[in-house]
Amino acid sequence: MEKKFVDISVVKDMEIIYVPVKKQKRPNSHCIEVFLLLMVFVTCLSILNPSFIDKMLSYCPLMKAKDKGNPETAGTCTIDTSSRFDCYPEKSLPTESECNTRNCCYDAQDSGGAPVCFYPTNYEGYRVTSKIETSTGINIMLNRTTQSFRPNDINQLIMEVTYETPTRFRIRITNSDPDVKRWEVPLDINRDKTGPGVRPLYKVNVSDVGSLFSFTVNRTATDSSNTLNLLKTGGAFIFADQFLQLSYFLPSNNIYGLGEHRDTLLHSMNWTRFTMWNRDHPPSENTNLYGDHPFYLSVENGGNCHGVFLLNSNAMEVLLQPAPAITWRTIGGVIDLYMFLGPSPNDVIQQYTEIIGRTFMPPYWSLGFHVCRWGYLTVNGTLKVVDRIRDYGIPQDTQWNDIEYSEGKRDFTTGFSTFGNQTSLVEELHNRGMHYMMIVDPGISNKADQGKYYSYDLGVKLDVFIKNVSSLPLVGAVWPGPVVFPDFTHPKSQDYWTAIAADFHKSVPFDGMWIDMNEISNFVNGSTSGCPYDSPLEKPPYTPNVAGGYLSYNTICASAKQYLSTQYNLHTLYGLMETKASNRALESIRGKRSFVISRSSFAGQGHFGGHWTGDNAANFYDMYKSISEILSMNMFGITMVGADICGFRDNSTEQLCQRWHQLGAFYTFSRNHNDQHKRPQDPGAFGPALAESTRKAYLIRYSLLPYLYTLIYKSHMMGDTVLRPLFFEYPTVVDTYSIDRQFLWGPALLISPALDKDQYTVEAYIPVGYWYDYYTGERVIGTGDKINLTTPLDKINLHIRGGYILPTQQPALTTTESRKNKFGLLVALNSTNLAEGDLFWDDGDTLDTYYQKIFNSFTFSADKNGVYSNPVFKGYTDEPMLLGNVTVFGLQQQPTGVTLNGVSTNYNYNAEYKVLYMVNLSTTMSNPIQIQWVFS
Ligand code: NOJ
Repeated sequence: MEKKFVDISVVKDMEIIYVPVKKQKRPNSHCIEVFLLLMVFVTCLSILNPSFIDKMLSYCPLMKAKDKGNPETAGTCTIDTSSRFDCYPEKSLPTESECNTRNCCYDAQDSGGAPVCFYPTNYEGYRVTSKIETSTGINIMLNRTTQSFRPNDINQLIMEVTYETPTRFRIRITNSDPDVKRWEVPLDINRDKTGPGVRPLYKVNVSDVGSLFSFTVNRTATDSSNTLNLLKTGGAFIFADQFLQLSYFLPSNNIYGLGEHRDTLLHSMNWTRFTMWNRDHPPSENTNLYGDHPFYLSVENGGNCHGVFLLNSNAMEVLLQPAPAITWRTIGGVIDLYMFLGPSPNDVIQQYTEIIGRTFMPPYWSLGFHVCRWGYLTVNGTLKVVDRIRDYGIPQDTQWNDIEYSEGKRDFTTGFSTFGNQTSLVEELHNRGMHYMMIVDPGISNKADQGKYYSYDLGVKLDVFIKNVSSLPLVGAVWPGPVVFPDFTHPKSQDYWTAIAADFHKSVPFDGMWIDMNEISNFVNGSTSGCPYDSPLEKPPYTPNVAGGYLSYNTICASAKQYLSTQYNLHTLYGLMETKASNRALESIRGKRSFVISRSSFAGQGHFGGHWTGDNAANFYDMYKSISEILSMNMFGITMVGADICGFRDNSTEQLCQRWHQLGAFYTFSRNHNDQHKRPQDPGAFGPALAESTRKAYLIRYSLLPYLYTLIYKSHMMGDTVLRPLFFEYPTVVDTYSIDRQFLWGPALLISPALDKDQYTVEAYIPVGYWYDYYTGERVIGTGDKINLTTPLDKINLHIRGGYILPTQQPALTTTESRKNKFGLLVALNSTNLAEGDLFWDDGDTLDTYYQKIFNSFTFSADKNGVYSNPVFKGYTDEPMLLGNVTVFGLQQQPTGVTLNGVSTNYNYNAEYKVLYMVNLSTTMSNPIQIQWVFS
């Protein structure tokens, strides 16, 4: 490549590259022509009016800067297409004259998605006016004198860089005027700081006083020599009242997260745009969906990882471009950016959930199988399904009801005359050791007569409903017809929500809450009386690429008023706040762990509840995409997550439903749910073949629940993810980065489902190391290649990773029953004949068992001589824990004898697959257990 000149804004893999000068139209070249042609005219005019030159040059900022003799601002338009930052996001093809009004560069050549109107380098914006560096951060003042093309620039800003821990720093940029408070997200951020310590993993550099504002972040290497640049600002930093934009170069192309969106797990950097503005819409590509998670995880070249969280709740879009680079563009609030330095993917999620809240500890029953549909119509219709699932011997823990249980589709009412006796339904389920959940929408019907509908009357009395601009309750329309919406930021909203839930609980003792339609979904745009569409909240100067083109589309007015602020600021937080209120309500009503599943979510959702991925369709593509969706949610700190098994919309088919039950048995939150008027799809609906393979899959799930529960406990305590993409365990192996058809439970269980129609062979990636077929124990020595796995219709491929011990329990039809059974150990030896594992156990329902010290914990290990179980903490004594069986995968030689705590015991050995089985044991786990084998 001919080296013409160096443009330092063009950075590939953080090395400066040489960019050839291209023939292209540039605004400054136009300006030169214009300038020359008009020179004589200008000279004359300038004699008459000296300010004329300045005015004219304001259309040519680059020339102006040069004229002023400041070499730093001698920007250029010669920028590699991949590194062009969009100066005209309102339009994909603005005209040259439109572009010129923004003093940006124009190049209309088709460059594969690159913007035609883009910022020159060194675009004039903020300058650093002061900078104070201390051992715990940097305080910077910024000032802009030229105006951006956005209305209401905020000219004076403060920037605080806080080194919060050795692996986390925060950058907060806001207006400097303390009397003008900008909107900041009222998330309960954990503010514990330890300071950077002696060796923080990052170094933040801000440009010098007097110069154009820019900053960089480097990962500091342990030997403090070579450092990797993780962030280098580019494009234009804009901070106007309703338009904030921050662009920077990234160290690699590997970006995950940025939800809630349907996309590939590993995002494409090819000009991908994600819009965040919560909306009721079935999962589909390129549009805003139910939740908002402005967080990404980046795998740097070489395998270290970092994460970035922009704590901002306003309507937003995020652009990824091939430089690689990212742009955050939001229309309110402040820049509140946290960076987590990992370096492993799991470290990043731990560091992220440390501030947004660790995942909630779910009740054990919620780990069982959940069954739901819209359209059972009656109590008898519901029970019929429960019965047929049980008749097939398929485990089920929880039965759900959709909106038809209620009277007139109104929350917290029961439709006795149409639906039947809901109370007796719940009693029956409880008698069977099962649990019950029902749907609750946020919209409270306002058409009932005063004094007849408690949920409405109490809300009016406490004045807790969201208001319109005229300060009257805003009326929308959802299933019951006209409705008003509780304001969960109102100080009395918790009491209100708890009171109406408790009142209903007296007659229908439900166990958990399914909160739907909380984006907020609205069947009329804005409200039944419209919105003040000329208000800057309804019609901001810039609207991100939201579906419908305006903010109140399919939801309530952006100008609607809540206690804390407007919908404009609070919209994306509604689901999170309702989840929190529901969690607290359940806790105070039942006195046990809450279980709340919400459709809408924001960062921090996982601290209070789980999520299902909404109205998916009954097809193979949607089943496949559910894997990326659940894995992304785990990166967002939501452990309990699943998609509607068999698909919600459209009629499911037997094969799809059979495959989907196999996959769904490995979602953390495992629920079959179906739309109204669609063919029944519960596992008893298709006959014996589907029922039998579903039974098999769920018996495996139920037997592995102690392992799953322990992973969930670790997520709750330490922030580890439960459902993991393969790259989480193999971050240096590039081949794993885009795998989205397989996933792991924790580090040790690999799930490789069949996801296509008529697919009977799965091409599965097997990471380097020893793996064992779950069913036979046959060893697969992974080489980091794909292998073909024969996958008949009744099978899901499962492999256990060598080096791990998984605690198990004899399954049963409910967890109430299975929890009484004996435990087992599934031991998978690695190449050096070692393995280890652990188990957390408590009663599965009591709050804070860890802090109350009413739990047991164990460690397990294996070596070439045997397997060992050791109690580490003994605080839960209600249920005796007995070890009933041990399976050892990979014992290469048949033992001549096996002892259990020194006493010779029975065993079987499968010489073909080299598996040792010990069954029918009954040994208390309260004491250490030693199983040893000998070879004579
Ligand atoms: C929309 C939800 O996404 C779906 O799961 C539910 O069945 C319907 N609302 C009816 O309540």
